[in-house]
Amino acid sequence: MQALKQQWINQLASRKAQHTYRSLTPYSPGIDFRSNDYLGLAKDIQFSELLLEQISSQADCLQGSTGSRLISGNSALAEDIESFIAREHEAAAALFFSSGYKANLALFSCMLSRADTLIVDEYIHRSVHDGCQLSAARKWKFRHNDVDHLESLLQKASGNVVVAIESLYSVDGNFAPLTAIVRLTQKYNAGLIVDEAHAMGVFGKGLVHQYGLQQEVLATVVTYGKAMGLEGAVVLGDQVLKDYLVNYASPFIYSTAPSALHLLRIQCAYQYIAAQQHLAITLSSRIEFFSTFRLHKGSEPGSPIQIIRFSNTHALLNLHLELKKHGLLTYPLFSPTVAEGQERLRICLHSFNTEEEINALCSIIKKYAYVT
Ligand SMILES: Cc1ncc(COP(=O)(O)O)c(C=O)c1O
Repeated sequence: MQALKQQWINQLASRKAQHTYRSLTPYSPGIDFRSNDYLGLAKDIQFSELLLEQISSQADCLQGSTGSRLISGNSALAEDIESFIAREHEAAAALFFSSGYKANLALFSCMLSRADTLIVDEYIHRSVHDGCQLSAARKWKFRHNDVDHLESLLQKASGNVVVAIESLYSVDGNFAPLTAIVRLTQKYNAGLIVDEAHAMGVFGKGLVHQYGLQQEVLATVVTYGKAMGLEGAVVLGDQVLKDYLVNYASPFIYSTAPSALHLLRIQCAYQYIAAQQHLAITLSSRIEFFSTFRLHKGSEPGSPIQIIRFSNTHALLNLHLELKKHGLLTYPLFSPTVAEGQERLRICLHSFNTEEEINALCSIIKKYAYVT
């Protein structure tokens, strides 16, 4: 064990030397340009009060679920809320998971066999890669949002083929060419899975729903830890997919079911964002305001995620610290989260960010990002 521990110590030391060491830092107050709480629901008192009202009228929702859904953890409430969510997205069925990571792990690990092919966008979330790693199918990556490259891989792929994309990418704030990829996967008889983690709530009930594509895709993964201000996820698809996951997805089968509280909060979040549409409208106007500063260095103008690329990690660190000194909290992405040389500052815009705050942020970025 001593040799293994020494190996870990060396690896950690090398991260420290490269300024890429990860550590848990205590909560620091400041203006939030880094969280995924796009609509501010996580800190919305009115939303919290609605949740409290729900809980006080159903105190038994605080009880634990007691086991896997397949043993003792299922309930009429869980099935009702899954049906409610499926209806909301105009999908045939929904299966609930306690996180998006787990939903992707479940889906990608069990769907395909040895003779099959998974083709994923190179920027797809880590949870998809980890799910693919547990799968016997071969995995290929296509260049980010490059439909021609995807087509060249689809031409070569064998067995059952599944393509995975995000509708809005968290690492660069770009949208997928969703309709083009739907058409392409249909042309090659491949299944398409769309991760809607960052689009859900920001763009209605996600872009698949907004473009009326739910029936055209194999599955959609919707998560609740971002604009919905909670945690958890569903896989949306047809009944066969749901039945298959219930039978073969280990993260579903061998894990304790979420509590009724967890499910009720999510149902409330759907009702709340439907009643508070001004939140998404305000966010959209803040994104528009940000775009007037013309800082775009790789993200699309309509996206709540904006990045500024740096090839020099010191310059990135300096800007991040300078912003922090002014109480402006952003998030720098280093390797291995992104490839070496692709380091970037990620800015998340929220409905609660004021124009003054955005002005302060952009003025500092303009001053430092291009000078250092
Ligand atoms: C695109 C994407 N998919 C899945 C996940 C995982 O979701 P969760 O945080 O609910 O585990 C994330 C979280 O960062 C994400 O950005």
